[in-house]
Amino acid sequence: MKVLGIETSCDETSAAVLSGTDDETEIQSLVILSQDVHRIFGGVVPEIASRAHVTALVPVVERALSDAGLGRDDVDAVAVTYGPGLAGALLVGVSFAKAFAYALDVPVVGVHHMEGHLFATALEERDAVPPFTALLISGGHTLLLDVEAWGHYRLLGGTRDDAAGEAFDKVAKLLGLPYPGGPAIEREASEGRATQGASPFRFARPMLRRDQRPGERDYYDVSFSGLKTAVLNAVREATSNEPLTPATRAAIALAFQDSLIETLVEKTARAVRQFERRRVVLGGGVAGNRTLVAAMRERCAHIGARVFAPSARLATDNAAMIARAGLFHLERGERAGLDLNAFASLPLPGLPIESLAEARDKLI
Ligand code: KG4
Ligand code: ZN
Repeated sequence: MKVLGIETSCDETSAAVLSGTDDETEIQSLVILSQDVHRIFGGVVPEIASRAHVTALVPVVERALSDAGLGRDDVDAVAVTYGPGLAGALLVGVSFAKAFAYALDVPVVGVHHMEGHLFATALEERDAVPPFTALLISGGHTLLLDVEAWGHYRLLGGTRDDAAGEAFDKVAKLLGLPYPGGPAIEREASEGRATQGASPFRFARPMLRRDQRPGERDYYDVSFSGLKTAVLNAVREATSNEPLTPATRAAIALAFQDSLIETLVEKTARAVRQFERRRVVLGGGVAGNRTLVAAMRERCAHIGARVFAPSARLATDNAAMIARAGLFHLERGERAGLDLNAFASLPLPGLPIESLAEARDKLI
């Protein structure tokens, strides 16, 4: 089966062709066009994102097909992100996918964006398959899941406020670094570590306490808004008499990153232990952070779990992961009708009823 994947949930216009079956897949082509225009605003402007998708999507799809050496008629099915994300941006992809599928008389299936991230690493690593503990860390979401099998997810925890990537982006702004903040902070933190060793700053580990027990919501949930405020206070103090020096900027970036990483690593390790998993799969843009991946590997090695992380290309938003998750649903006979719509928030499919209420709470 050759699946055309479409992703337009935020500021990447992406199309991919994936071929294969549920057991064996191959990325035939992947085109990702990042909308640079948002940089001057320091964040994504939804209306501009929608318009840019309208302009870019047809050429991006044409390029994905020609890179795969295929014509439109060779596509067997279309998989498209239908939520969560920016409603207007999603609508561009969903409308295109339905029109394409209708014109070529092939099935179309809607994919939950975070389920796409869950499948991304499996495109490159044969062993990144269930059962595993999953940590999905992106610009809009932070989800800790236990994955018993594809399509069977247990939501363990999430963020009470900012997503992990959002925290990176906001802290970068406070430090005068460009958007997106994750890569910029990672660079600053490495610089800080190389030149200063340990940071002279230390921020509290958010929602991480030894007395937390399984069954309590705090055991797995995270919260980054307090950490952001701590950074703001540190910046204010450091700049009361002089502009922020490069050394202080690097030291604050390092302390922030250490705090966020330690929190996520410990929460993930708790899930590995409770569910006795031997594998951890990371996904989402923040999983491209090499310091985080190294810390996760070191911690999980002590509890007997292997950590799988996606390459930079598949960590951030891309249509190959959407095609992969779509293939899973298509092989189970799932089809969307031409009334398929876009949703800004959407519960993850495959959650048991009791965690659905919580998912709604967390606005996945
Ligand atoms: O998954 P993604 O591409 O888009 C969403 O679905 O949100 O994630 C984007 C997020 C941004 O917040 C960006 O700052 C963050 O991923 N990010 C990173 C790194 N690369 C991207 N965060 C930390 N370290 C990185 N190296
Ligand atoms: Zn994403």
